[in-house]
Parts: sequence; C-alpha cells; structure tokens
Amino acid sequence: MARAPFRRRRRLQKNKKCFLVTDSNVYELYGGLIEQTFGSIPRYILPAGEENKTFEHLGEILAAMGEAGLLRTSTLIAMGGGVVGDIGGLAAALYMRGIKCIQIPTTLLAQVDSSVGGKTAVDMANVKNLVGTFYQPEIVLVDPLFLRTLPGREIKCGLGEIVKYTALDAEIYRELLKHKENLFDLSFLAEITPLCIDHKANVVRKDERETGLRKSLNMGHTTGHAIELYDKKRSHGEYVLIGLWYETQIAMKMGLCREDYGKSLQELVTKLIGEVPPIEEEALAAARMDKKNESAGTVTFIAPILKGVFDVVKLPYEEYRQAVFSAMEERK
Ligand SMILES: NC(=O)c1ccc[n+]([C@@H]2O[C@H](COP(=O)([O-])OP(=O)(O)OC[C@H]3O[C@@H](n4cnc5c(N)ncnc54)[C@H](O)[C@@H]3O)[C@@H](O)[C@H]2O)c1
Repeated sequence: MARAPFRRRRRLQKNKKCFLVTDSNVYELYGGLIEQTFGSIPRYILPAGEENKTFEHLGEILAAMGEAGLLRTSTLIAMGGGVVGDIGGLAAALYMRGIKCIQIPTTLLAQVDSSVGGKTAVDMANVKNLVGTFYQPEIVLVDPLFLRTLPGREIKCGLGEIVKYTALDAEIYRELLKHKENLFDLSFLAEITPLCIDHKANVVRKDERETGLRKSLNMGHTTGHAIELYDKKRSHGEYVLIGLWYETQIAMKMGLCREDYGKSLQELVTKLIGEVPPIEEEALAAARMDKKNESAGTVTFIAPILKGVFDVVKLPYEEYRQAVFSAMEERK
C-alpha cells in the first residue's frame, strides 16, 4: 500500500511531463507529501482564495506550463479546493487545446461536488465563473484524510453542498437526518462523500452540458451566488445554504414544496449557520445575471418539492424580488 504513490510517480513521469497546480495553503500543509509522491515536478502555487480565481492567474499558469515544456501528452494535476480545481481544470482544457487533468480535491466542497463533472472556470467582471468550459478530468482522487487539516468553517462550506444534495436525493436526505447531531465527524463525512459523488456523476452522465437535469445541482445557487457576489464575507457553501433557505421558503409559499419537508431542510440550514441573514436589494439584483436564466428579466431557480423531487421555477424579476422580501419577513 505504502509503495503505491511511487509506482504512480514512475508511471506519470515516464517520458511525459506533469505539472502541478495547488494553492499556498495546501502547499504549506502538503508540500512534503507532494515531493514524496510526485518528486520535483514543475508547479504553480496560486495564492489561496477565491479572489485569485482570475484570468490573470490563469495566464500565469499557462505561461508556466509553456516554460516547463509541457507537451500535448502531458498531465496537469490540480490539487486543492474548488478554486484550484476550477482554474487548474481550465488551464488543462486550454493548453495546446487540451491535455489530461487529474483532480485531487482537498476540501469537502471539492470532494463532494466541484472536482466531479468537468465544470472549469475563472471569475471576471465581478461575475462568478464567467469564463470557463466543460472539460472532464481523467481521474478524480478523493482521500477523506485531507479533511483532517480543513478548518471547521470550510467543512461547513462543504456541508452546504451536501445539504443541497439532500433536497435532490432521498438516500442522502435519510443519511444526513440520521447523523444530524454529528455532521462534522470525519467518519460520517467519509461515508456521505461517495453518495454525493455518485449522485453528481449520474446526473452529469445524463446531462453533461446542463441543458436539463444538471440544473438541479444549482439548487440554492441562484440566490446564493447573487449574495455571494455582493457580500463576500462568508464561504461559498454558506451562501448556498442561505440561498437554499430562501428558495425553499419561496417554494413553500408558492405551494410547490411540502411544508414538513421544506421546514426540515430549513432546519438543517439554520443548524449549520444559525439564523439566515437579510438580503440587500443590490445583492438580489445580481440574480438577473445568473447563468440559468433563459431570458432577460426572468430569474430561474430550483425549487425543492419533496425528498428527491424538484422543479425548475422561472419568475419575472419583480415577482422573485417580492418573494425574497416576503421570505425575509418570515425568517423568525
Ligand atoms: N466546478 C464546479 O462544479 C464547482 C462546484 C461548486 C463550487 N465550485 C467552485 O469552488 C470554489 C470553492 O471551493 P472551496 O470551497 O474548496 O474553496 P477553496 O478552494 O478556496 O478552498 C477553501 C480554503 O481551504 C484551503 N484548503 C484546501 N484544502 C485544504 C486542506 N486539506 N486543509 C486545510 N486547508 C485547505 C484553501 O487553501 C482555501 O483557503 C468556488 O470558486 C466555486 O465557484 C465549482
């Protein structure tokens, strides 16, 4: 077992170059493991943080790959959270029109969600993931032991995406409710992660380009992304949870979501982040730019209905805005 990384290293290095993209925090924690596993492969260490998921850093990664003499037969290894996975995946997709990519997700969010499914992107013009492509990784290597060094806040962030899955998958819903008192336990997280990966992989197999079913994975994201862009104080997963709370409330008000089920979803949200905050008018306006919208002036979100059942709801912006403001009044 202990020799496996070295065998992999010989295979990876045999006449093909590998290039590693990671971030400054992961490198500080796992630099030794990286040396031991991959040797002295060329690398780009991104300063940690969403604010660095930019076109400028993407350009620097591509230039470093060129300087390292990477070929079309080379492989990019993206080891880190969703930021590294997204920007590294996009670099792999663009370099010489596409080289192989291996994802090694080290945050809970990246393990249960972002490393699977091939969405790659950078942020631009204050729009999240404005520039990107679909590009499937060759391999996704998930090791729950990385979570041992992950701060509680980042675990909470990944739990945000897991709660989203509970609204889409009855088995994940059951498991989460069963363990709702020990959501932060690594043994529970190690158990729930493969269920989330399976769910996502099945959805992506049916609808890689997000023309239908894959949109369901954006539950909580329309409202969540809008506030995230404006506020930037919390983590991505926390915004997803806030978005999920509001979108569930609207779905219940519209008579789409069953009350007992909707309330149990909202209870999971408040268990993780406490009382949901109010939303500023300006923040909400960003929902008009959401990529799920099919026409200007309309906002699309994914409404939970029942365990594992959802609906795609399209509302004129004004109606959506009013629904969010009434939900805000109903918070307590
Ligand atoms: N491609 C997709 O399908 C998809 C899906 C969801 C989210 N995303 C994107 O993912 C990003 C968020 O990902 P994230 O939450 O992983 O954020 P992140 O990549 O910024 O990582 C969060 C923090 O944890 C640190 N970290 C990473 N691994 C660690 C470890 N093992 N121990 C200690 N610290 C560690 C990072 O350095 C960073 O400071 C956003 O940009 C979002 O848009 C993409």
